[in-house]
Amino acid sequence: MSIRNLRPNYRGEGEEEARRQREIIERLKLREDKPKTYYIATMGCQMNAHDSEKLIGIMEEIGASPAAESEADIVIYNTCCVRENAEQKVYGRLGYLKTFKKNRPNMKIALCGCMMQEDVVIEKLKKSYPEVDLIFGTYNIYKFPELLESLLDGSGRIIDIWRAQEEIVEDLPSIRKHSFKASVNIMYGCNNFCTYCIVPYVRGRERSREPDNILAEVRALAESGVKEIQLLGQNVNSYGRGLKNEITFAQLLEMVNEVEGIERIRFISSHPKDLSQELIDAMGRLDKVCPQFHLPLQSGSDRLLKLMNRHYTKAQFLDEVRRLKEAVPDVSITTDIIVGFPGETREDFLETLDVVRQVRFDGAFTFIYSKREGTPAARMEQVDPEEAKANFDELLKLLEEIGRENNKHWVGKRLKVLAEEVSKNDAAVLSGRTEHNHLVHFKADASLIGEMVWVTITDSTAFYLLGEMEKAEEV
Ligand code: 5AD
Ligand code: SF4
Repeated sequence: MSIRNLRPNYRGEGEEEARRQREIIERLKLREDKPKTYYIATMGCQMNAHDSEKLIGIMEEIGASPAAESEADIVIYNTCCVRENAEQKVYGRLGYLKTFKKNRPNMKIALCGCMMQEDVVIEKLKKSYPEVDLIFGTYNIYKFPELLESLLDGSGRIIDIWRAQEEIVEDLPSIRKHSFKASVNIMYGCNNFCTYCIVPYVRGRERSREPDNILAEVRALAESGVKEIQLLGQNVNSYGRGLKNEITFAQLLEMVNEVEGIERIRFISSHPKDLSQELIDAMGRLDKVCPQFHLPLQSGSDRLLKLMNRHYTKAQFLDEVRRLKEAVPDVSITTDIIVGFPGETREDFLETLDVVRQVRFDGAFTFIYSKREGTPAARMEQVDPEEAKANFDELLKLLEEIGRENNKHWVGKRLKVLAEEVSKNDAAVLSGRTEHNHLVHFKADASLIGEMVWVTITDSTAFYLLGEMEKAEEV
């Protein structure tokens, strides 16, 4: 896998602050007592994965290299709080880390990410987890060099949690997992307050980045060899609100589509309540925007959608899907679904299954509702967990059946695939993605990683496609 350092040659927002942090990085590089090795565990969504790229970038820049969790000089957990069991896992893992720290007292433990924005978590860590050296949140991740320096200066345990974003700070080092594809934040936070969701409380209000800064970053990425861009935001469909010169997400896509060198554009996540016809038309028209759409349904029941504060109905959702399918032939639609939301009856759940049958989703992230203290749904009457589990299993079965059927459609077709990595199960096989975002496994040499290749699909399962690559001279 090729990992390359990238410092985009543009100056983004928060320039002054970014310069200060870069100066600290220079000082850290020269310190004898700096961590020589690091381990970063990333939990949760793409947003966190992107934040971890920044942490890795900073660690590499100061001259540290990756190591096993048990051996690293600093272990960082970038946490998620969307569901409670993810939080429980963090506490469990801390218990296990403590045993390593006993033998290696100089080892540092740092926690960051969404979970750190919850007061109850901070209280618990303060009281029961003295082995944690550094705690910071989602708003001040760019301050990591400064926090690390203070820690090395011996200021004792550091807890630095902000309640809101002071400024957007860009242009710090970052290391991407792949040289040929990259994620770009276009906005932060969320204003929607779905009643089950903790994200608006830990990631703050919606803030869009200036289009010029986004474009400069995309151009710099394209120049460094990136072919595929993923635009990130909690609700990209409302991109641009509140900017000096307001623009829409469709207009932003139009601009990104013009960037030379970029071949594929993807984005997540959308909210059905803000899906405009303008965006649907742009999807159909713009050649680099991939024919895939992630449209979180959450539930098919109008009654629950209302209780969830989602601001759309089952009929509106189905209408959006119909318009997307009309505008973008063969569009691949994926979704998020929650089972067991407070008060969900069998009838409500059957409405969800009905939408799944009608839309025939190409994939879905499915979740059993998890009660998050502080959200309105936590105060609603909860459902029987066993019933929720049975419904959940039924949903998975249906999604798998549909996935299996949908994927047969591609057998015999010749598809352009971006070769991404060596398959985990077979060193002679590469895994890649089609423009519809289907996973494809095919025999090929690792030297082709990062290249677009033509693959004829020979077989399929519910979750992936198998194919044969055309020889180089045929491509
Ligand atoms: N319980 C279960 N799933 C949740 N999600 C958000 N909050 C919860 C919760 N409390 C899911 C939603 C969202 C996805 C990112 O996580 O489906 O779209
Ligand atoms: Fe959470 Fe709803 Fe915002 Fe998504 S749109 S992050 S589910 S509040």
